[in-house]
Amino acid sequence: MTRHIGVLTSGGDCPGLNAAIRGLGRAGQKHYEMEFTGFRDGFRGLVHGRTMKLEGGILSGILTDGGTILGTSRDKPHRMTIGGKARDMTDVVVDTYQRHHLDALVCIGGGGTQKNALRLSRAGLNIVTLPKTIDNDVAGTDSSFGFDTAMQTATEAIDRLHSTATSHHRIIVVEIMGHRAGWLALGAGISGGADVILIPEIPYEVEKVARAIRDRTRVGKRFSIVAVAEGAMSAEQSLRVRGLLEAKAAAESKEDKKKASQQLRDFHEEHVDHTVTLTHQLEILTGQESRLTILGHLQRGGTPSALDRLLATRLGTACAEYLDAGRYGVMIAARGEGTEPVPLEEVAGHKKLVPPDHAWVRAARHSGTSFGDE
Ligand code: F6P
Repeated sequence: MTRHIGVLTSGGDCPGLNAAIRGLGRAGQKHYEMEFTGFRDGFRGLVHGRTMKLEGGILSGILTDGGTILGTSRDKPHRMTIGGKARDMTDVVVDTYQRHHLDALVCIGGGGTQKNALRLSRAGLNIVTLPKTIDNDVAGTDSSFGFDTAMQTATEAIDRLHSTATSHHRIIVVEIMGHRAGWLALGAGISGGADVILIPEIPYEVEKVARAIRDRTRVGKRFSIVAVAEGAMSAEQSLRVRGLLEAKAAAESKEDKKKASQQLRDFHEEHVDHTVTLTHQLEILTGQESRLTILGHLQRGGTPSALDRLLATRLGTACAEYLDAGRYGVMIAARGEGTEPVPLEEVAGHKKLVPPDHAWVRAARHSGTSFGDE
């Protein structure tokens, strides 16, 4: 009997999404008698019933394309802006699922998507998710597709910045995405030979960063590359965030919780341009001309690397297998060379951060990189 499967991509786009849709669609159609309906622009497509039939030639020629043929958004079913107002649209989503006679819905996304997927699973839908993100911060999986390509892009950027930094004897601060995790800055920083790497998991002191740069100048190295994760923080800022998080956890009333959440949001909003301040501080503390490069959304574009195509194809095709077995309420995680279904409860609301004693951190320290903490 033919099974009807819905598919959507949600959250920030990344290379590998199309490879995953293709792997899932092809395996399901060829081996498991499944039909696929794509929903456009993330969970919003489910609310407005905007669909795209994934059949015929639509899955051909997309393996190498960046972005997502389905479109994406950061909309949440339980708090969606409709007519300028935030509304809970969960019932509408459930209704669309039923109207399309879906047997299951596959949600491809990062941390936010896993949370939304868990809510829908609790609302009674058969949900399976796949992990994608350039941030590599989805819990419960060895890796997520999108990360490898973004790491390569950021590494190439650091390579290019090296020649201009050397020629002008400058400090170049390069801001790298990653949200609240440091994987991307760490991986690209090591691969690109950055002299200083700053990540959220290892709070820094600006004076220690400046000292590391002055030490380089003393031995005749007249340029420095500082790779900074967008979420990196000074020790002082990190203490402040910890205090706010504790206040939020300890809040007894709804009002106090709301207030602490707002303060946290305010902090992160103000923190957005911290690399501008850091670049300025380093120029003053070292007396060396400094420039800032923000890589931004460049890191999310382009054709997926071979590794991301492979991972997305592995996860997509495995997903069809788990759907066939009726394994719902899970994320299909990458585990070694294989895959593993991980209950959504163990994924949603958790973040995979860089352990400060991680092998990558040790390798960086041993090869002379400063983290601005010692
Ligand atoms: O989660 C992926 C990511 O690119 C983060 O690294 C970054 O913080 C965020 O998305 C940017 O989001 P937006 O595309 O909404 O600006």
